[in-house]
Amino acid sequence: MIVGVPKEIKRDEYRVGLLPVGVEELTRAGHTVLVEKGAGLGSGLPDQAYVKHGAGMIDHAAEIFAQADMIIKVKEPLPAEFSLLRPDQIVFTYFHFAADRTLTEAVVASGCTAVAYETLADDKGQLPLLTPMSEVAGRMSIQEGAKYLERPQMGRGILLGGVPGVDPAHITILGGGVVGANAAKVAAGFGAHVALLDINMDRLRYLDDVMPANVTALFSDRHTIRQQLKNADLVVGAVLVPGAKAPRLVTREDLALMKPGAVIIDVAIDQGGCIETSRPTTHSDPTYIVDDVVHYCVTNMPGAVGRTSTFALCNVTLPWAIEIANGGVVQAAKTIRPIGRAINVHGGEVTNRAVAETFQMPYNDRFEL
Ligand SMILES: NC(=O)c1ccc[n+]([C@@H]2O[C@H](COP(=O)([O-])OP(=O)(O)OC[C@H]3O[C@@H](n4cnc5c(N)ncnc54)[C@H](O)[C@@H]3O)[C@@H](O)[C@H]2O)c1
Repeated sequence: MIVGVPKEIKRDEYRVGLLPVGVEELTRAGHTVLVEKGAGLGSGLPDQAYVKHGAGMIDHAAEIFAQADMIIKVKEPLPAEFSLLRPDQIVFTYFHFAADRTLTEAVVASGCTAVAYETLADDKGQLPLLTPMSEVAGRMSIQEGAKYLERPQMGRGILLGGVPGVDPAHITILGGGVVGANAAKVAAGFGAHVALLDINMDRLRYLDDVMPANVTALFSDRHTIRQQLKNADLVVGAVLVPGAKAPRLVTREDLALMKPGAVIIDVAIDQGGCIETSRPTTHSDPTYIVDDVVHYCVTNMPGAVGRTSTFALCNVTLPWAIEIANGGVVQAAKTIRPIGRAINVHGGEVTNRAVAETFQMPYNDRFEL
């Protein structure tokens, strides 16, 4: 196959879909890899690093889309890329179709095969291509929280770990999944007092077992949440109800319970956010203030730490990309169930039930296993 790697064109996106080691692995398996010039620069990967491992460097994305049998990207195609998609071309990237009808219609019309990172599910129902980005966002939430708690950033002027003789910060994390657990680990490392809330008792037992002593695993109900808001310097929103909008756990009235200058990092904003006053922001303008509480609601947090995120993402996507390149996508889908589950659009039809239901479009179940 010819595998193409265009440069990401979405604002504030610094990741790239393939590492130089991916070029080496794919070429060793007999494939040709074409990379757009400058595609890796946002992640600190110069063109020479790709060339050294066998990539052909191409000046324009249009040439890559015209030649490649499979495109490997990070973000969904943007309108400027819609007309470049070809029938019989495989596009392996994050799509998040259910959030975007225009994108879904454009990809269906193009005839390409959309293999979506976010629906590549293993037999336990886990989503291995989403996990690393949740790990990044969870760890980063505390780093950002620490920054916005500083007084010049309009925060309370609190140092997470305190100092001898002075209390550390109190951090409340709503949701103890991948984001929440990673946030808790980093927060604990800073020496903060951490409360980690979830509604899944099995998960709470597990977290209670593995977390350091300065993390308390608590059941998430209205009373506990309100109590926590009174104490919290930093609140991290990390809940997820799969396939649904995030539950609103903090109302606007609840903000009155919080200390002036407290900070909310609503990581769940990509699913609508779990705080009533959250609205999506960008890395260029990440925060705003409501009722004296600083809100940070960036929808693509991993984009800001592009180098870490690129490595974390490519580590998990490459083995699947190689399977698809070696076997062809239809054949790979027959034998490798997660790949079948990842195919959202094929041959001008929607092949993911949830996407079809969201937009009331016809559904073809050929990849349902
Ligand atoms: N903003 C970003 O850049 C970014 C990056 C990565 C992930 N995310 C988002 O972060 C969110 C969390 O992702 P994740 O991978 O940790 O999901 P996850 O499924 O691993 O964890 C979610 C947890 O929330 C818990 N939960 C559900 N309802 C709850 C409630 N009422 N109270 C407390 N806990 C509750 C679940 O039991 C689960 O343990 C998702 O919305 C995800 O899309 C955002």
